[in-house]
Amino acid sequence: MIDPFGRRITYLRVSVTDRCDFRCVYCMAENMTFLPKNDLLTLEELDRLASAFVAKGVRKLRLTGGEPLVRRNVMSLVRSLSRHLASGALEELTLTTNGSQLGRFAAELADCGVERINVSIDTLDRDKFRAITRRGDLDQVLAGIRAAQDAGLRIKLNAVALKGVNDREIPEMVRWAHGEGMELTLIETMPLGEIEEDRTDRYLPLTEVRRDLESRMTLRDVPFRTGGPARYVTVAETGGRLGFITPMTHNFCESCNRVRVTCTGTLFMCLGQEDAVDLRAPLRASPDDALLMRAIDGAIAHKPKGHDFIIDRATRQPAVSRHMSMTGG
Ligand code: GTP
Ligand code: 5AD
Ligand code: SF4
Repeated sequence: MIDPFGRRITYLRVSVTDRCDFRCVYCMAENMTFLPKNDLLTLEELDRLASAFVAKGVRKLRLTGGEPLVRRNVMSLVRSLSRHLASGALEELTLTTNGSQLGRFAAELADCGVERINVSIDTLDRDKFRAITRRGDLDQVLAGIRAAQDAGLRIKLNAVALKGVNDREIPEMVRWAHGEGMELTLIETMPLGEIEEDRTDRYLPLTEVRRDLESRMTLRDVPFRTGGPARYVTVAETGGRLGFITPMTHNFCESCNRVRVTCTGTLFMCLGQEDAVDLRAPLRASPDDALLMRAIDGAIAHKPKGHDFIIDRATRQPAVSRHMSMTGG
């Protein structure tokens, strides 16, 4: 699959549920309305959809949410998709999780051939963790991370940089993550969907974070890429790798290799645009994949050049009304 800008699409992110057991302040409103369960594709349909993309050349599959591990029976999907690892069609099967359920699932994930996972953790302070996630328990997430380490999974931590919340703690988080043998990636908040506050209040450009880190540590740019949006440095003092995801200050769309599908079977060609194609109808129209494949080809031919995360100055509302939890980042 090659889009009109010559980008090869080899990475599919599948949001298996819009639900989450947390309500992170930058992601959701406190009283989010989730989709009625009947609107969701079944796990078998998600499998068929993801497998169609693998047949079309996707080499990396990431399950996201919401929180992927709160979808009932999700491990049966992981287990089933792992056949594409065994056949060599897929290079990587992974997921992005808030870590709350890892204690239960880490060993099984490893058993299915998952080798590394991304875990979101924005602070190491219990009270701040509760304030950011509104419902999360830091100790449960730390125990989940330990279970994942014990299961032999490699871990990349994701931390959204939030002004006045975790900015002072970032150097400590870098030392902790690297000391534990994990990578850490910092993320700029993106204006996606309405939340209860003005996002610009907490937005922290990573250019500032990097400047602050450089006054304390020695950062060296490295060309390493995962096929994801992060740019990486190594930290001389810790020997670890630190990533920066900068959709706001440094757009990375020219190297975009991904599309994302929601739990209702809508394909979004770009996180920061509304362009979407329904794949549920062609999926359900026939047990044979011909219509679905045609719909996928048509969608890739319309992948936008890039995102523009705009907040309307007058209304203070984001241009993209969809929440991150619909498309899983
Ligand atoms: P790896 O590099 O494979 O480890 O993963 P990743 O960083 O692509 O995935 P992850 O799910 O950990 O996402 C981290 C952050 O990157 C989240 O905030 C995502 O929303 C953001 N992100 C992932 N893909 C895109 C993209 O195409 N555009 C933008 N703007 N942000 C993205
Ligand atoms: N901007 C940036 N990152 C976000 N995440 C969720 N919402 C946003 C947002 N609006 C992050 C989560 C998780 C990843 C999947 O996306 O913290 O690490
Ligand atoms: Fe849940 Fe992730 Fe959104 Fe937090 S950022 S509410 S953990 S989906």
